[in-house]
Amino acid sequence: METRAATPEDAPLVAAHRRAMFAEMQAGDAAALATLEAASIPWTASKIREGRYLGWITESDRQAVASAGLLILDMPPHPLDPEGVHRAHLLNVFVEPGHRHRGLARELIELCLREAERRSIRVVTLNASEAGRPLYEKLGFRVSNEMMRVAR
Ligand SMILES: CC(C)(COP(=O)(O)OP(=O)(O)OC[C@H]1O[C@@H](n2cnc3c(N)ncnc32)[C@H](O)[C@@H]1OP(=O)(O)O)[C@@H](O)C(=O)NCCC(=O)NCCS
Repeated sequence: METRAATPEDAPLVAAHRRAMFAEMQAGDAAALATLEAASIPWTASKIREGRYLGWITESDRQAVASAGLLILDMPPHPLDPEGVHRAHLLNVFVEPGHRHRGLARELIELCLREAERRSIRVVTLNASEAGRPLYEKLGFRVSNEMMRVAR
């Protein structure tokens, strides 16, 4: 197993993992997921180019078996990080079913957290799936006061 940084050429893979992640979470119907995957490819490629999407891909025999991403967001200083002007959002955590429960997700998330720390980013957010929640809690994530409204 080897883990490497994602390049813009990996955008289709990142988008496919994103779609597979939401499919397992039963979020969105097939049409929405197909649209999401297609729209994610150019978005991901451009964010990787800008250095805003930091992705990592774990490969076994040159086949991608897991990946995760960290999106660097502009945010104003906040009491949780009074001098900070960035937050990081952990996303697209996905491990192929045949490679689960071997610590791949934990390794990728720890890599993302080390990168946030290296950049002195104190606040890392994410939206947890049921499957991901126990792992995130073990890594120190807590439920926050965030609310969300989705337009109809
Ligand atoms: C959730 C997911 C990323 C976990 O990947 P994984 O490589 O199997 O996870 P790991 O082997 O690194 O497990 C890490 C820890 O989480 C626990 N864990 C993993 N999957 C779990 C599950 N389904 N339910 C409860 N705990 C789980 C493990 O026991 C492990 O604990 P430990 O490190 O103390 O031993 C993977 O199941 C997946 O891709 N699911 C579909 C997509 C998804 O839900 N992604 C997360 C979006 S927020």
